[in-house]
Amino acid sequence: MKAKRTWWRDGVIYQIYPRSFQDTNADGIGDLQGIIQRLDYLKDLGIDGIWLSPINPSPDVDFGYDVSDYLNIDAKFGSMQDFDLLLNEAHRRNIHIIMDLVLNHSSDQHPWFQESLKSKDNPYHDWYLWRDPAPDGDYPNNWLSFFGGSGWEYNSSLNQYYYHTFCPEQPDLNFRNPEVRQAILDVFRFWLERGVDGFRLDVFNAYFKDRELRDNPRRRGLHLRPYDRFEHVNDISQPEMFPFLQEIRKLVDKYPNRYVVGETFLASPVQARMYIAPDLLHAGFDYAYARSPWGPTGFGNAVAYWDALHGEKDWPNYFLNNHDTPRSASRYVTGEDDARLKLLASMHLTLRGTPYLYYGEEIGMRDTRYSRAEIQDPVGKRKWLSVKGRDGCRSPMQWDASANAGFSPAKPWLRVNPEYPTRNVEAQLQDPESLLNFYRALIRLRRENPALHAGSLELLPLENESVLVYKRSAPTQEALIALNFSNHPQQVNLPGEDNTRAWQLLFGGSESDPPLLDADSLSLPAYGTAILSR
Ligand code: GLC
Ligand code: CA
Repeated sequence: MKAKRTWWRDGVIYQIYPRSFQDTNADGIGDLQGIIQRLDYLKDLGIDGIWLSPINPSPDVDFGYDVSDYLNIDAKFGSMQDFDLLLNEAHRRNIHIIMDLVLNHSSDQHPWFQESLKSKDNPYHDWYLWRDPAPDGDYPNNWLSFFGGSGWEYNSSLNQYYYHTFCPEQPDLNFRNPEVRQAILDVFRFWLERGVDGFRLDVFNAYFKDRELRDNPRRRGLHLRPYDRFEHVNDISQPEMFPFLQEIRKLVDKYPNRYVVGETFLASPVQARMYIAPDLLHAGFDYAYARSPWGPTGFGNAVAYWDALHGEKDWPNYFLNNHDTPRSASRYVTGEDDARLKLLASMHLTLRGTPYLYYGEEIGMRDTRYSRAEIQDPVGKRKWLSVKGRDGCRSPMQWDASANAGFSPAKPWLRVNPEYPTRNVEAQLQDPESLLNFYRALIRLRRENPALHAGSLELLPLENESVLVYKRSAPTQEALIALNFSNHPQQVNLPGEDNTRAWQLLFGGSESDPPLLDADSLSLPAYGTAILSR
């Protein structure tokens, strides 16, 4: 009997930053029609779902992560009709759509906040976290903003402060108010009814704050960033999150095959794991893997830990890139060679867990360097001296060698990476040894082999300190994956076992320099991959 395929578990999810994917109306900003035009490309790549960074109306202080209307599509991306068409066209290709819901805070332009500003007895006043100044006029407590400075913004006409975890233009909603929770559930219901397949919950564990808004205690040790000098025990991760997630999940489960993945803010893997359960989230993100140093020990440890935390019942996921982090191609590689990226792809697509890809990762896009005048990200604007912000990983998708990389006929909102004439989709489609074709082959392999998409994972001891080896076991198939993280050829012994079936080479990565398999050992070229099966 063929096991039923579950798209978010067995498939690959691809994150699109819509502003930067494909512009079709020459305003320099990507749009929904652009994504529709590129669906065949994504289908050929082999993905099962798209996570769209936010597309709700937004004044773009934080580019979509400040929403002024949860029940609409921003006109710069298109209309609700365009969105319905995108859903239809994606579904026709068996591609699922995951929306990014940014519910911890709204934009300060949201009508709810505009109402809440009007007076202390306005019915919406209590929808946000308004507090009187301390007796000496100071902030209501010591909470800071993650983006710098106090978390409290003063409003002189009300003589009150409101709280914002991020920019002042992103006021936090008051989830202790039942009307707010009802309105938030209505947001889920609205998009579920339209046919959306899943949600990514932005910083969901910050929804609830301590009831009395008590100070955060000081954290021991020296910390460069003021934000890190506190234990964030009162501004995030309150127990009330669990029953509310249960309500969300109950609603989502009324619709078949839906999925909810959470971005657990400032969480350790253990904390991120706590929110994953059959009545909570389907999955959560953790940074340990993406932040691993290069080499089998770092990645091996991150994977072993995250995999074990999930156990047999739950399903991990992995990402190397997203819209908040420098690209893996810039973190792990200097220069233009893609050998290390092929190795990372081999690991990423053969682990037990849903692999997330971020647009352009499949062609090895590097971060783009921007001058101070070019910076768009509020984090870069506020903290230029210490942090350049997140624009580097948000540059437009490099489709071809034509003007602006085929992204837009107009000046793009963020400059295109100067490498685009050589590093682009069209060029890589024509090169059988390209990174893009490597990704396509691996995604196909993952889909076709039950050990690779469904098998359990067992990391084998590091016999050779440059080579990560792990086994994936499904009832009908076993796979052995060996990854050489060094720039020299390496040899590893195959695990000797009772099993008499011999290993076969399923994937060797390179036609010109393949791994060599003999009875009990495997020779890997520099940065080489071998996927064996039996
Ligand atoms: C999340 C998003 C990030 C955004 C922040 C505030 O961390 O990933 O891009 O700036 O939340 O919404
Ligand atoms: Ca556009």
